[in-house]
Amino acid sequence: MKTEKYIWVGILAVVAFMSGCGEKSTKYFDGEALLKTKCAQCHNLDMPPKTYKDEKAPPMMAVAFHIKDFMKVENPSDKKPKFIEFFKEYVLHPDAKKSFCDKESLASYGVMPSQEGKVTEEEVGAIAEYVYDYYDQEKFLALMKAKAHFDALPKGEQIATKNGCLT
Ligand code: HEC
Repeated sequence: MKTEKYIWVGILAVVAFMSGCGEKSTKYFDGEALLKTKCAQCHNLDMPPKTYKDEKAPPMMAVAFHIKDFMKVENPSDKKPKFIEFFKEYVLHPDAKKSFCDKESLASYGVMPSQEGKVTEEEVGAIAEYVYDYYDQEKFLALMKAKAHFDALPKGEQIATKNGCLT
């Protein structure tokens, strides 16, 4: 009798756990899509980035790289959660004092207008997670190496490679 009761408690716990997970997955946010719809009107999203004369904001790759560089953490595994926390805080409550942007750039761009009401904290969390993973220094270096190799090719070969003629 007693064992039967334990089994039931166990089953109930598993069901509760699974339904908990189910609820979470319905709240999934697409960080990449959100970044494009909510942030791209000011931040260039290319890697390597395009810069414009009258750009409204630093490219997202620059933002990601310098925050990663300047953020101080004791444990490397704290880096991503801290990065996400910074994004959530900064995007909703930007402040010149909190910005990692250097004084000169801050003066030329102006402090970012708060995105409160345009994006939720959870959405910023999903964006930050995507930004952290996508704008990766190693990936960038690999891309630049591939590009340097491409630029070093003779022109005719460049065109052929670009059009996929050689594959
Ligand atoms: C209206 C233009 C505008 C929009 C929209 C915008 N930003 Fe910004 N953002 C800026 C400017 C300008 C700066 C540079 C000045 C600063 O650091 O406040 C900036 C800087 C930042 C920084 C870096 C702060 C630092 O310390 O270097 C982060 C992070 C950021 N934006 C995230 C976002 C995210 C995420 C979105 C989309 C939800 C977004 N921004 C949308 C204009 C914008």
